[in-house]
Amino acid sequence: MKKRAGRKIGPGSRNLKPRLQALGLVWLFLTVPLYREPQALEAETAALSAADSADRESAMDSVPGTAPLIAITFDDGPDAEWTPVLLDGLKERGVKATFFLIGANISQDGNESLVRRMYAEGHLIGNHTYHHVNLAKLSSSGAEEELGMTDQLIEEITGASPFLVRPPFGAFPQGEEEPDKLYVKWTVDSSDWVTKNTAEIVRKVVTDVEENDIILMHDCYETSVEAALQIVDILKDEGYEFVTLDKLLMD
Ligand code: NI
Repeated sequence: MKKRAGRKIGPGSRNLKPRLQALGLVWLFLTVPLYREPQALEAETAALSAADSADRESAMDSVPGTAPLIAITFDDGPDAEWTPVLLDGLKERGVKATFFLIGANISQDGNESLVRRMYAEGHLIGNHTYHHVNLAKLSSSGAEEELGMTDQLIEEITGASPFLVRPPFGAFPQGEEEPDKLYVKWTVDSSDWVTKNTAEIVRKVVTDVEENDIILMHDCYETSVEAALQIVDILKDEGYEFVTLDKLLMD
């Protein structure tokens, strides 16, 4: 009932760069209509039958090494108050996440150390522009500057320049995207910043989620961080394996 076609992006390849470029194109095509009507969500929640749960559980009874993969992603950080709480919780659970950082937030006092910690603890770091801008409304040089400033900050701290970009508002740049970047949206929107209600966020995500999904959350609210850790616990119990976004896209 919730099967969405075309989500699996083909077999693995050892040849990374052409594969990423191809993914960039495929991904643009796959990720346009990702918002769901609230009414549809309500109906779906109500209709989540015992049969469907059983179905899902049997799919999770997997051979070792073949657990269904899932990626949890956090936008708009780092946040001095809530990012450390999230990092503690993820560490305790042995879960790796993907963080799309805002350059201006990295520049705030003390936040560099959070970026260093994310990297050291095995999380993947991506670019969410410097000022959280709508890239579709910028010239290509303006977009390049927003991404370049943020890349530079991240590289200064971690030594690695991010290749993943999550465009704010899901708005892709008008012109050519930078060829060495992969623009990635999401497939499950937690709406965490809208509801700011832990139980509601958890319910929405665990109801909507399927194998290979990319969950969108924000690590700048207490409710989001609480919900994220509960979501991790529930989905791990269901047999999901959390991986960073690069692993989800390339496996
Ligand atoms: Ni954002």
